Amino acid sequence: MTLCRLMLSVCLALGALTGAVARRPSALSQPVQRPLACSEFPRPPYTEYARVARWLVHQTTWGEVSTTSRHLGGMAFGHVVSHADGPCDQPTGRLLFYLTSMDATAQDLQANSSASLALSEGQLAGACTGVDPEDPTCAKLSISGRLEPVPEEGQQEAQALLFPRHPHMRDWPSGHAFRVYELHISTLRLLDWYGGPHDLSPEQYFAADLLEPATAEAMA
Ligand SMILES: *[C@@H]1O[C@H](CO)[C@@H](O)[C@H](O)[C@H]1NC(C)=O
Repeated sequence: MTLCRLMLSVCLALGALTGAVARRPSALSQPVQRPLACSEFPRPPYTEYARVARWLVHQTTWGEVSTTSRHLGGMAFGHVVSHADGPCDQPTGRLLFYLTSMDATAQDLQANSSASLALSEGQLAGACTGVDPEDPTCAKLSISGRLEPVPEEGQQEAQALLFPRHPHMRDWPSGHAFRVYELHISTLRLLDWYGGPHDLSPEQYFAADLLEPATAEAMA
């Protein structure tokens, strides 16, 4: 009886302890409202597909690049990399990366520069709260094209667009042969809200203005 009671109190104590531990994350994960990286650009309405795509590219700082792998014998290989399309006040829409040929992604690109970049609104502060990142209301963008090194004469200009959003890149080891690469877009696929994805041409994408509603031609 005594032992039983002792064990019961141990169990209750353990239960209280694990309960406290289990409650902890929710107490810590109170929504923290941080502003968007480039807060001067509010989210466009989901019906303006090209503007949403431009907005997502401008606000995000990293994504997943897929290549045709060499080390896995031609399987798709996804790798998380940083990108930017310009400083906050200079959204260009250009997709710039800083890659080294010491990494599998750049090695794959040497053999075949076809690549896709996947971005999610879920990485943005305060966005997609309360929904799963796969929910259609949490915008997702896949951008496909050729991911190639920027020619030597364009490296400095490209660095000036990329580095303000990724200040640490300036300090990456010079012996590792990092170069700015650019994804030359052939097509974009946006899923934002219900009703299926929308394919966009590079012309529609680059014509979109982040601050002004898209023109009828750009939306067509
Ligand atoms: C590169 O990959 C694309 C897409 O998989 C394919 O269509 C193309 O034939 C490949 N090119 C070469 C040179 O292997």
